[in-house]
Amino acid sequence: MGIEIDHSGKVALVTGSGAGIGREIARWMARAGASVAVNDVRAGQAEETVARIAREGGDAEAFAADLRDDAAIDRLVADVAAWGGRLDIAVNNVGMMAGRGTARFVDMDGAFWRDIVDQNLVLTALCARAEALVMMGQGGGVIINVSSGETTRPSPMMSSYAAAKAAINHLTWSAAVELGPHNIRVNAIAPGTTLTEEVRRAFPPGHHDAIVAATPLRRETLPEELGRLSVYLASDLARCITGQLILADAGAFLSRTRPPNLGQDASQETP
Ligand SMILES: NC(=O)c1ccc[n+]([C@@H]2O[C@H](COP(=O)([O-])OP(=O)(O)OC[C@H]3O[C@@H](n4cnc5c(N)ncnc54)[C@H](O)[C@@H]3O)[C@@H](O)[C@H]2O)c1
Repeated sequence: MGIEIDHSGKVALVTGSGAGIGREIARWMARAGASVAVNDVRAGQAEETVARIAREGGDAEAFAADLRDDAAIDRLVADVAAWGGRLDIAVNNVGMMAGRGTARFVDMDGAFWRDIVDQNLVLTALCARAEALVMMGQGGGVIINVSSGETTRPSPMMSSYAAAKAAINHLTWSAAVELGPHNIRVNAIAPGTTLTEEVRRAFPPGHHDAIVAATPLRRETLPEELGRLSVYLASDLARCITGQLILADAGAFLSRTRPPNLGQDASQETP
């Protein structure tokens, strides 16, 4: 006897699923039986994810769109709903990689701040709004926002990225309260340092060992682990869970030693 999660017959949208964490979430949704809309600003990357899912026997379609454009978000969600006939699961994964938002607090001007807040908070909020409108019309759905383990502790050089992602946590609470009566659950997942191809490439020497040493489980997060978590959160097994931030960080949050971030050198570790 066992317990199975079956998303057959459901339509899932995963933004930014042409690479990294988003790609693994898309693959796991397809593996669980959902028809998956694969969005990415890089059309070729989206097609590659679709091809992988097809090779694995799943159903997916590529939707190239740059979600920094508000109108593109509404078009994407409308196109996906037209393609699938509904929208059951939406994972708002597009956000800036932490390493790209790294800067000293005193060096960030208004344009820098607005860009970080736009690419993380505003983009996620507008995706969730468009998705919620479709879900309200069909009687319910599940929204998962991708936050970050950086929202659980202050780190040098990360103030704008962490603040924008922390605002996503609050947005998740508020949206869960407003959308709950419409049978829409809204949760956030917070990856710790996750070994995507890009993160592997960006690691300076020694970085990997320092992160592992500072993490109770002595490991980083793998992209597919966010896939497993998303499949669970979107399922009926999680039907009374809403408004929550779920950390998938191998326990880094609990550690007394601050794991280093990309873009920081060791001298910036301890305030
Ligand atoms: N990798 C980590 O260690 C880590 C840790 C914590 C949180 N996160 C969060 O996880 C999410 C995914 O990160 P990742 O590391 O997999 O990134 P990634 O760069 O490996 O992949 C992101 C994908 O999103 C696409 N994308 C970027 N901007 C887009 C836009 N405006 N419109 C459409 N597509 C766009 C990219 O082309 C890329 O294919 C982000 O929100 C990030 O902040 C990542």
